[in-house]
Amino acid sequence: MEYSELIKIRESVRNYDPARPVSKEVLLKILEAGRLAPSAANRQPWKYVIIASNEMLAKVKTCYDKDWFRDAPQLITVVGDENEAWIRKYDNRCFIETDLAIALTHIILAAADEGVATCWISNFKPDVARNALGLKNHQHIYAISPIGYPRTDYKHKETKERKPLTAVTEWI
Ligand SMILES: Cc1cc2nc3c(=O)[nH]c(=O)nc-3n(C[C@H](O)[C@H](O)[C@H](O)COP(=O)(O)O)c2cc1C
Repeated sequence: MEYSELIKIRESVRNYDPARPVSKEVLLKILEAGRLAPSAANRQPWKYVIIASNEMLAKVKTCYDKDWFRDAPQLITVVGDENEAWIRKYDNRCFIETDLAIALTHIILAAADEGVATCWISNFKPDVARNALGLKNHQHIYAISPIGYPRTDYKHKETKERKPLTAVTEWI
């Protein structure tokens, strides 16, 4: 798909068919887009965790209390390792969130290109998700997304609710 088309059709989907998991072949293509993402000093401080077993899905799904989230046949989380992240020496700013946001953007766009639905979720209970994945202190989950296909009755959004370009740009 043309990039200009892809960024238009990508949307946050809150409707999943629990009976239609994404094939491993398609998941690998989507994960490859995450692998190729840029990162500060090329540190690649990420790990992409696909949650697909019934046992792990049941555990992780308790971190976000929405019915549509419970329907997701698979989840993807991006886990960042703060020990691997680049820190700017001038102000000690750690760029891990930037790196992980770019990586997940690559992933959700690649998913849309494959016809796979996602929804970036940050409003989950971090401790619940961390415990479910058994993370170490220096590892953090920056986002979770369901990964799957919408039910057949799902209506795609017709327009994007966005501020007009004039309101978000400045030419100086
Ligand atoms: C950093 C970030 C966090 C988000 N967290 C949530 C969330 O917790 N729950 C949710 O339903 N959507 C979440 N979203 C999705 C946004 O609501 C959505 O991207 C926005 O409304 C624009 O809609 P669109 O993605 O369909 O274009 C999040 C998106 C981003 C980028």
